[in-house]
Amino acid sequence: MTEAEKSWEKRLAGKPDELTVNFVESLSIDKRLYKYDIVGSIAHAQMLAQQKLITKDEFRQIKDGLIEISEQIAEGRFKFQKEYEDIHMAIEAALVKKAGRAGKKLHTGRSRNDQVATDIRLWMRDRIEILQAKITLLQKALVKSAGRYTENIMPSYTHLQRAQPIVIASYILSFAEQFERDFIRLKNCSGLLNISPLGSGAVAGSTLNLDRKSTSKQLGFSDISYNSIDAVSDRDFCAEFIFDCAMIATHLSRLAEDWIIYSSSEFGFVLIDDAYCTSSSMMPQKRNPDLLELIRGKTGSVYGSLMAILTILKAQPSGYNRDMQEDKVHVFSADDTVEACIDVACAIISHTKFDTKRISAGLDEGFLDATALAEYLVGKGIAFREAHGVVGSLVADCEKQNKKPAELTLDEFQKYSSLIEPDVYEHLGAVNVAGKYVTEGSAGPKQAKEQIEYWNRQLGQR
Ligand code: ARG
Repeated sequence: MTEAEKSWEKRLAGKPDELTVNFVESLSIDKRLYKYDIVGSIAHAQMLAQQKLITKDEFRQIKDGLIEISEQIAEGRFKFQKEYEDIHMAIEAALVKKAGRAGKKLHTGRSRNDQVATDIRLWMRDRIEILQAKITLLQKALVKSAGRYTENIMPSYTHLQRAQPIVIASYILSFAEQFERDFIRLKNCSGLLNISPLGSGAVAGSTLNLDRKSTSKQLGFSDISYNSIDAVSDRDFCAEFIFDCAMIATHLSRLAEDWIIYSSSEFGFVLIDDAYCTSSSMMPQKRNPDLLELIRGKTGSVYGSLMAILTILKAQPSGYNRDMQEDKVHVFSADDTVEACIDVACAIISHTKFDTKRISAGLDEGFLDATALAEYLVGKGIAFREAHGVVGSLVADCEKQNKKPAELTLDEFQKYSSLIEPDVYEHLGAVNVAGKYVTEGSAGPKQAKEQIEYWNRQLGQR
């Protein structure tokens, strides 16, 4: 093995300590940027040729060399040497071996500082598209599942106490809304990050006549950055990306938490398919929702990445600092974790069944119709605060007598309010109540069906 020769070997005396080599290297982490590094280098070299800073022939040699290196990496034939520190230096060194003097001209007017800032942006732009596609699949799985339960009623909860009746479809669609916001957040993130820092050099730009707009255009950026100091030290988009991942993880963990609870014997609302459960090494009867628990648990790692990136950025002096290298650890980790969690959640959602019989059998519990009864009284001309009080004492009495409101006779009802008429019975019982929701965005069957149509149109366009 020939010893790795680095571009600054003339500046520093002797070989670096092995501790140094191991501590500063990021190749093990940033090699996943290789495609973007090569694409960025080709654009830079083409611009150098346009500006007559290298010859057309040198550009050709650089381009051919870089394409060959790209193929070697893709096919696993490239030897990564950590002595080169990072993917940028590893590729450049390989290029110099292939293209000699032409290779040595690639880094003209460039620093790893603007290079890495460019690479992460290019990588992230692609990753956002992939995450968005996966979010869309997740939403489609939710909408499909909702379509099976547009007439089936379940209790809604606030404070994990029974609240009002809803259709199962609306419950499921509540997650489609959350993931829609995640989709939009990622879109916004992609819009903001799509600025080319290339040509900002190490910190101050260059005395060479670089055409920054040319590289920006070649790489599909919407504009160039206009302050070289900021351009090499801006990692706001990394923090934003991880925040977006953290929100996705939050939403997934809330769904996971619901279904962990709903799949317990105490609830028995959902049946998670065996393919997505595990058992116990000791208790033979167990069917555990471990995958959902892991989705919930991995949220912690994503939050950790968010805290890490914010802390890495905090109080760094102006310009590039090596602290910045740690950004990729957390950006990649959040991306990997969230991608895996979306894939698993999508599969679980597609295979989970709601036990509608069991849910229906329990709908009489918890006075789910109490709010609708108060609204019925409002319809008869009673002020809502008074109606609330009337139904409150009615519920308290029913609870003592172990009765449901629908079991009271008209005479009994009229003891609470003389305005109650025989039509009161149409307003009682979970199923009746859910059918009476009229406000837009309510959780009744009518609104759920409209929303399913909306989502099918919306997601069909993606
Ligand atoms: N591997 C480095 C990073 O990820 C590349 C930039 C290094 N720049 C430097 N001046 N040491 O940030």
